[in-house]
Amino acid sequence: MHRIAVVPGDGTGPEVVREGLKVLKAVGEMDGFDCETVEYDFGGERYLATGEVLPDAALDELRGCDAIYLGAVGHPDVAPGILEKGLLLRLRFELEQYINLRPVKLYPGVDCPLKDKGPADIDFVVVRENNEGLYTGGGGFSYKGTPNEVAIQEMVNTRFGVERCVRYAYEYCRRRDDRKRLTLSAKTNVLTFAHDLWWRTFQEVGEEYPDIECDYAHVDATCMWMVKNPEWFDTIVTCNMFGDIITDLGAMIQGGMGIAAGANINPEGVSMFEPIGGSAPKYTGKDVINPLAAICAVGLMLEQLGEARSAERVEKAVMWVTANKLKSTAAGRMGYGTQEVGDLVVQAVQEETVGA
Ligand code: IPM
Ligand code: MN
Repeated sequence: MHRIAVVPGDGTGPEVVREGLKVLKAVGEMDGFDCETVEYDFGGERYLATGEVLPDAALDELRGCDAIYLGAVGHPDVAPGILEKGLLLRLRFELEQYINLRPVKLYPGVDCPLKDKGPADIDFVVVRENNEGLYTGGGGFSYKGTPNEVAIQEMVNTRFGVERCVRYAYEYCRRRDDRKRLTLSAKTNVLTFAHDLWWRTFQEVGEEYPDIECDYAHVDATCMWMVKNPEWFDTIVTCNMFGDIITDLGAMIQGGMGIAAGANINPEGVSMFEPIGGSAPKYTGKDVINPLAAICAVGLMLEQLGEARSAERVEKAVMWVTANKLKSTAAGRMGYGTQEVGDLVVQAVQEETVGA
């Protein structure tokens, strides 16, 4: 039995989460486990109605769950930053989900915007630091609104925070497959303090992993290689802000936001799983949004819950659907509605069309 806190959130979040839960139930039935779900209505609507983003009492409840499944955060009537910082970032920070794991994998049948690249070329994972960097909220204004205005946004890098992230990346790279190449993506030529710390930590920890090839690319060059030679990458480790940016690029080369999922991981605590696309207000309630990213997030959740077999079932079922059914991964162009795509994945899980 797993206790899952479900936060459907804003926009299309509830629609895609519904499909993810359908798939979770189906694999649970196949593999003999049960999930108890507790739903929370955090998000834009609740904030507009009550002024509350994430009550402290709820945060304590979440600490007692086995995992959190999140739909989307972001509402057109709420100023930027309120929900993002008050809900998503607060959960990441307070629950010490210090890893943001984002697989970039092109599934069969999915259209890739890169010429002459296919599933064999695009299969890597970004390990994004998730608790520090430019995201901690430090900084401020002086002389706000005057011609002399100064805005400072602090970038925090601690040896402790960098080291636990880098170590996680080495470990992940070691067990992922036998390619064993870990690329640090940073900007050591400009951020000569912050990323010097990253570079030294990367090299020192690397001495404990002689089987892993240490590779380095500046973040701008990383973007170039992701487009030009994505097959080079196996595991990438990077800071919070760079990880945010390069994983949107990653999502595009794997078929778009409709298919990209991420895991906010506290290896010793409660982790949170989400499709990485936003709340997509313009598609809300139309049954056109692609639920596969949310379904893939369920796969990541199962992996973390120790249900490796079920995680594999989910991924295989998604691959069967992309290879054999979907016309496109884009919203409104899948050839099926949101719920039908969920049903197809459930069907693939139940029929064990694994590897088909
Ligand atoms: C993401 C999102 C968030 C981030 C926003 C919504 C705060 O873009 O999960 O990538 O920047 O981390
Ligand atoms: Mn992002």
